[in-house]
Formats: sequence, structure tokens, C-alpha cells
Amino acid sequence: MSNLQNCWPEPIVRVQELSESGINSIPERYIKPPSDRAGLQNSPGNDTFGAVNIPVIDLLGMAGKAEEEAVGRACREWGFFQVVNHGVSPEVMRAAREGWREFFHLPMELKQPYANSPCTYEGYGSRLGVEKGAVLDWSDYFFLHYLPTSLRDPAKWPSIPPHFRELIAEYSQQVVELSGRLMKVLSRNLGLPEDRLQNAFGGDNIGACLRVNFYPKCPQPDLTLGLSSHSDPGGLTLLLPDENVPGLQVRRGNSWVTVDPVPDAFIVNIGDQMEVLSNGIYRSIEHRVIVNSGKERVSLAFFYNPKSDIPIEPVKELVTEDRPALYPSMTFDEYRLYIRTKGPRGKSQVESLKSPR
Ligand code: OGA
Ligand code: NI
Repeated sequence: MSNLQNCWPEPIVRVQELSESGINSIPERYIKPPSDRAGLQNSPGNDTFGAVNIPVIDLLGMAGKAEEEAVGRACREWGFFQVVNHGVSPEVMRAAREGWREFFHLPMELKQPYANSPCTYEGYGSRLGVEKGAVLDWSDYFFLHYLPTSLRDPAKWPSIPPHFRELIAEYSQQVVELSGRLMKVLSRNLGLPEDRLQNAFGGDNIGACLRVNFYPKCPQPDLTLGLSSHSDPGGLTLLLPDENVPGLQVRRGNSWVTVDPVPDAFIVNIGDQMEVLSNGIYRSIEHRVIVNSGKERVSLAFFYNPKSDIPIEPVKELVTEDRPALYPSMTFDEYRLYIRTKGPRGKSQVESLKSPR
């Protein structure tokens, strides 16, 4: 990550401050080109709202073939699913989400010391990408590392509310365990030994980080997005969404499906590294976030990633004469420079690497 500069190209504006200043119209910086806007889909009751939804998988008592088939099918058909009875404590999930809500509601002078830079992105941020003049998203965030332990630095995590650092660690540990379980299921569903994908990720040396998104109320939600369309660059994402406020939209062909969050569920999705390892059998799917004028929204995106300095390429068992390797070998450190420089841009990166067939 040495190629990224230490400073943002322009002064940082906290979207939460803009929102709370009482403006009636949003600054031009946040206005998306018409083709990218959420437009009329941003309201319940139309076709894309609630009619179809991503699969919901209940892991209670599920094991072996049944688990493998449910998860495998969801990954192949959607690249996204919700999971309930997943083993992560609902109390810890709620406490973590509400703790982060509390953090974002602290006065700005208590949050500003955590301000991040594009060098590592760790801390309190308000943009993704370093291109001067880029159109920005309507959100602030907090980014931190949990694994590897050499990158874990709780001193950089919020110290308020009290005991929050311990809670973040507890939450992260439980989510890592669930991710490990899903990795095994995904491996088996590809016909591989259950540790195959985990080993390709670097075994015990995987990376894990948390991005907490805060989407303030927006006076003109139809002109902007909370988070522009992107696919997640890493391995697997386990998202804990806001309980009451929908916002996440998943691409389905030419339309967008608004995910209706199930209580205490995680929304799981395939990232680009998993698409690469599976040689395109599992696909990372584009998604984005819409905002609204009535309610703020908090979400916790936990990224389970390969060790960042080992080559990631299609696993050899999935490369055949009929299906040659679709992606070149690359480390995750190299790979994620793209989104960290250019910001969220649909699936353009993984698509551009893909070899023509
Ligand atoms: C992300 C993401 C979705 C959401 O952080 O990568 O896609 O609902 N978040 O906040
Ligand atoms: Ni995402």
C-alpha cells in the first residue's frame, strides 16, 4: 500500500455535519449522474421493493449436505444471502451496532482525533478514493483491522462508549468463526476438501477488517447514493445492517433489489477474491446503498480477506481445459489499490482482469 499518499486531495467534509446543518439541497459534489441515481426505486411499493428478495438461510441444526446445498445455491444464483441462527450472539450484534451508533453521535471533536488518511484507511473517514474532484457518496465510516494481529491496534479504535474496544473484539471474533464455517461450506460445495479455500486464503493468517458505515439523513435522496455501486474486493463480507432502515440494493440483471433485513441476520456476500479462487463459479455481485430523508442508517461490514501478500489465483482443481483460468494471479495488497485509489466503480476491476473467452 506504499503507493497511496498520506493526505486526501481535498479537505474532508463530514457528511453527518452537512446533514445536521439543516441544508435543503445537497452540494453538487454528491449529485450523481442521472444513470447512477436511485431515482424512483427509492420508495417502497414499486416493483423492485420487496417483491423478490435474496435467499434467507436458517443454519439451525443444519450441517453436511443440506447446509452445503442451501449456501452453494444462494452463492451461485445470487452471490448474496441472509443467514439466521448463525451462532453469533444476537446480544453482541445489537450491542455492537448500538455502540457504533453512539460513537457516530458523539460531538465532532471527539471523533476527529480518529480521522483517517488514504495511506491505510484506518479510522474515521468520509471518502473512498483519492481522485480530486470525484463525486462523493453520502456517508461517513470507520475502518479498523482485526486480523492479522500484527495490524490490530485497539488504540486506534473508539474508546467511547466505555468497554467498546472489548466489545468490538468479541464481535469480530464471533464473526471470524462464522466466516470460517462458511468458508468450509463453500469449499465443499465446489467439490474441494473443506479446508481448501481457507488454505488458499493463507490458513490462519487471513485478514479481517471492519468498516462501519454511517448514512446520515439526506434532504435529496433521489440525487445521490449512500455508497456507489461496487463489488467487495475481498473474500467474504458479513454485513450487519440497521435493524429498521433498509438501504442496501443488490444488482439483479438490469434492476436493483432492495434487501429487506431479517432481524438478527447477517447479509453475506461473495467478494472478488472468492470469484477469482473459484474461477468464476461464485460471482461477486454489484451492490449499492440508497439513502432517505427520514432516517439515518448504520451498518457494520466485516470483510474476511486473504492474507494480503500471497498470490490469489483460481484453485488448480477448478482450472480445466474446458475452463481455463479466467483471472491472473495477484496479491490482495495489489488488488485493493484500485478501489482505494479510484473509489467504488461497479465490477470494473474484476471484469477488466478477466481473460476474454
Ligand atoms: C460495504 C457495503 C452495504 C451497506 O461497506 O461494502 O456494501 O448496507 N455496505 O452499508
Ligand atoms: Ni460492499
